[in-house]
Amino acid sequence: MKVAPSILAADFANLADDIARVAAEVELLHVDCMDGHYVPNLTIGPPVVAALRPHTDLFLDCHLMVDNPGRLLDAFAKAGADGITVHVELGDPGALLREIASLGVRRGLALEPETPYDAVAPYLESIDLLLVMSVHTGFGGQPFIPEVLDKVRAARKEIDARGLAVEIEIDGGIKVDNARRAADAGVDILVSGTGIFGGEDPAAAARAIRAAAS
Ligand code: DX5
Ligand code: ZN
Repeated sequence: MKVAPSILAADFANLADDIARVAAEVELLHVDCMDGHYVPNLTIGPPVVAALRPHTDLFLDCHLMVDNPGRLLDAFAKAGADGITVHVELGDPGALLREIASLGVRRGLALEPETPYDAVAPYLESIDLLLVMSVHTGFGGQPFIPEVLDKVRAARKEIDARGLAVEIEIDGGIKVDNARRAADAGVDILVSGTGIFGGEDPAAAARAIRAAAS
C-alpha cells in the first residue's frame, strides 16, 4: 500500500516544513489543483509545484480539478509534476492522456462519486493510474462515500484479469477507520488530507493509516 498525503490540508504558509514532517512515511504527495470553475474552490497551480520540487524527491501526484486541463499540462510538467490526473467528466480524455504521456509524465484518470465505472473502463489501457473519488471534488474534510468501493472492486478485477499496470488510487475522507476497507477492495494508493495533516503528528497519522490498511 502506498500513502499519499494531500497537501490541501497542510499549512500553505509552511508547505516545505509540513512535507518534511511526513516525507519518510509516504510514497507520493497528492497535489490538488482547483480552478474555481470545475469546482468552486481555488487552490494550487504550477508555480507552487515548481516551488515544491527542490524540496522533495517524492512523486508529485497532481490531481487537476480544472475545466481546461489541456492548457496547463505543459506548465505542470515543466514545474516537475511526476503524475497528472484529469477528470473523465470533462469528456473523452484520449487526447489529454496522449499529451501527458508525451510530456514524460504518468497518466491518471479520475472519476467523481456519481460517475459509473463504465465511463473509465474504455481507457484502462491508456492510463497508469485510476483515481476513484470517494468524496465530491472541491474540498477536503468531507465524509467518505463507501459506495465507490464497488467501482474499485470492478476496476481491480478488470486490471488483474487483463494484466494491466494500472494503479488504483482512492481520494477523499480516508482515515484510519476506513483504510482497511479500501485496501480490501483493491486500492493501491490511499490519499489522505485531513486524516494526515489535520492532527498534531502527520507522520504518526500516515503510519497509522498504512498499518490499518495492511
Ligand atoms: C478533494 C480533493 C482531495 C482532498 C482529500 O477535492 O481531491 O484530494 O484533498 O482531503 P480529505 O482526505 O481531507 O478528504
Ligand atoms: Zn485530490
